[in-house]
Amino acid sequence: MDKIKILIADNRRDTRELIKTYLSKDRLIKVIGEAENGKKALELSMELKPDILLIYYNMIEIDGYEVTEKVTSELRDTVVIMTSENDDISLVKKAMFHGAKEYVVTPFLQDTLVETIRSVYEKEFLKKANHEVINSKGTHNDNKCKIISVFSTKGGVGKSTIAINTALALTKQTQEKVAIMDLDLQFGDVLLMVNKEPVTSIIDFINQCDEYTLDNLKLFMHDYKGVSILASPVSPEFAEYISEEHIVEIINLLKQEFRYIVIDNPNNFDETTLSALDASDTILLISTMDIVSIKNVKVGMGVLNSIGYNDEKVKLVINKANEKFGIKLKDLKTVFDKNICQVIIEDVKTVVTSINKGTPLVLGFSSSKISKCIYKLAEQLKK
Ligand SMILES: Nc1ncnc2c1ncn2[C@@H]1O[C@H](COP(=O)(O)OP(=O)(O)OP(=O)(O)O)[C@@H](O)[C@H]1O
Ligand SMILES: [Mg+2]
Repeated sequence: MDKIKILIADNRRDTRELIKTYLSKDRLIKVIGEAENGKKALELSMELKPDILLIYYNMIEIDGYEVTEKVTSELRDTVVIMTSENDDISLVKKAMFHGAKEYVVTPFLQDTLVETIRSVYEKEFLKKANHEVINSKGTHNDNKCKIISVFSTKGGVGKSTIAINTALALTKQTQEKVAIMDLDLQFGDVLLMVNKEPVTSIIDFINQCDEYTLDNLKLFMHDYKGVSILASPVSPEFAEYISEEHIVEIINLLKQEFRYIVIDNPNNFDETTLSALDASDTILLISTMDIVSIKNVKVGMGVLNSIGYNDEKVKLVINKANEKFGIKLKDLKTVFDKNICQVIIEDVKTVVTSINKGTPLVLGFSSSKISKCIYKLAEQLKK
């Protein structure tokens, strides 16, 4: 194992010296730099790209949280551990919210500090190795196929509605082949939303096929108005039999034929979701305009940043937009500190009629305002 490269950032010289003394006794750890203020911590992080930035929360010039957020969003391979003399749970949460992976309370015990560094490093190292294995199997995309994940860290925000309608809009606009993968493996409802019986699903393909080929996979997919749908299992208990390797394999098969793959994801970061997000060119991160959704999606955005997905990959979509309830779209731009890629208006009447008729919005209500929002979204995704 290579040595773990550490950058120490603390305003207090004595503390830096103490940390250095503690860490110098461990043969697997190497201190590669030290910073006496937040600005220097940021500069040195960018220059030295440490494995771990050990940073005091209350840095001068730029505070520890801001440095953490910048470092974790820009340096995919650097992990931040925050230090503080305060073990108040709200500060710990704040540290995590800004992207820190661990929080160590001072005064340090040498063993605790070394143990924390080693275990954070090992965990991240394994995670990275795991992703590299998956990527080496070819989930990363060639130019022919574009993979679009619809994702949120809050339920009921309209992911499935957006996934189906965006897929249909893409076929209409491009005449290209489009597939939908329902990866909400426990509670997926894509097929139901287009009024089709879920006779076969992903689990049948996995269990019944000796050979994982595209032709075999297509036997288990459902055609609907020009899109091919791979449904989720009919019952939640099947989800545990589906692994990230299955997902990678299926995406690779779909890539052979489809120009666009739209993935409807669940509201969590489990391994199957992560493999789909990793394989995606674009992640549509969906939020509605209520405080709970905004808070959860903001946390989700932090996690996506800390995985290393940049602004180019993660696009913010606001659904059920309605400024009547106290929050304005311009407030959201500030809260998320990100441009909104597309706003989809709230239109309960059209949406409920569309569901009751079993006809997706862009097909049955193509001239409605809400469908126009979805067409605009698809337009941006075509490229
Ligand atoms: N723009 C909109 N205007 C009004 N209602 C909407 C809009 N978008 C979605 N809905 C409604 O919100 C509800 C949730 O939508 P949907 O099932 O697509 O969300 P989801 O994020 O996939 O939910 P889940 O987390 O359960 O998978 C549905 O009743 C849907 O019809
Ligand atoms: Mg859904």
